[in-house]
Amino acid sequence: MGKTKVICFANNKGGSGKSTTCSNVGYGLTQLGKNVLMIDGDMQLNLSLSLFDEEQVLAYAQSEKNLYEGIKQQDDLSGYIVHSPYEGLDLIPSSTLMSSIEYELFTKWQREYILRKCLTPVRDSQIYDYILIDAPPTLGGWVMNILCASDEVIIPVESTPWGLFGLGNMFEFLEEVKQIAPDLKLGGIVITKVDTRKNYFKQTLETLKELENVKVYDTYIRVDSGIEWSQDNNAPIMAYKKSSRSAAEYMELSKEIAKQQ
Ligand SMILES: Nc1ncnc2c1ncn2[C@@H]1O[C@H](COP(=O)(O)OP(=O)(O)OP(=O)(O)O)[C@@H](O)[C@H]1O
Ligand SMILES: [Mg+2]
Repeated sequence: MGKTKVICFANNKGGSGKSTTCSNVGYGLTQLGKNVLMIDGDMQLNLSLSLFDEEQVLAYAQSEKNLYEGIKQQDDLSGYIVHSPYEGLDLIPSSTLMSSIEYELFTKWQREYILRKCLTPVRDSQIYDYILIDAPPTLGGWVMNILCASDEVIIPVESTPWGLFGLGNMFEFLEEVKQIAPDLKLGGIVITKVDTRKNYFKQTLETLKELENVKVYDTYIRVDSGIEWSQDNNAPIMAYKKSSRSAAEYMELSKEIAKQQ
């Protein structure tokens, strides 16, 4: 078994498709025969809800076995992994207490590297081909932890003027993080929630293609109500409706990501 690759999905702009993309790429990679661990790094519990129903997600959130507890105790995260209903796909669930994670980290020695340290035994076990981390829509100490624990960051961007507006802050933040995590790579930008009937998509594409040294994935994800229905049913789109357009798009994106070195 090869080396485990850690990829996080981050963008301080809320609602840009981070959790949707993390979940569906995670499932997509399992369809390519990969073993995947997903980590829900957000108090909104959206990634957890993409695999389990509300009752189960709240049970994990209130238990001793969720990301918040693992980070607070600076524990080996191997003991916090749960199997999802899907083969080859595991999860470390989140907790609403993640809202106070910044406070927990504040007084800790080498606080930017705590997630990295807690994840090292999971990584070193090489059980997983990929570890995918869903970040919250913030830029602070916790997201810095997520980036320092990752080999690569993928930035989902919504094809709207305000979707593009916040990207400057994200890139500045990444530059800061690279000072303490020089090996962190920008995997690329994935354009989400595209309405091809609107001209603005062309503008988005042109603006993003002008950015130097930034890959924009060839696959973009169009608006599809199937995504909302799959989330209402706590399932990735490919498991919920394999024949849908967004299932095909997320499968293509998963292939693109799997091809990247
Ligand atoms: N391709 C799509 N078609 C239709 N709706 C979508 C699509 N992608 C995402 N959505 C919807 O957009 C909303 C935001 O998506 P998502 O939660 O993945 O973004 P996020 O970046 O994780 O948000 P947050 O910043 O709050 O964590 C959700 O309600 C989701 O159902
Ligand atoms: Mg989210």
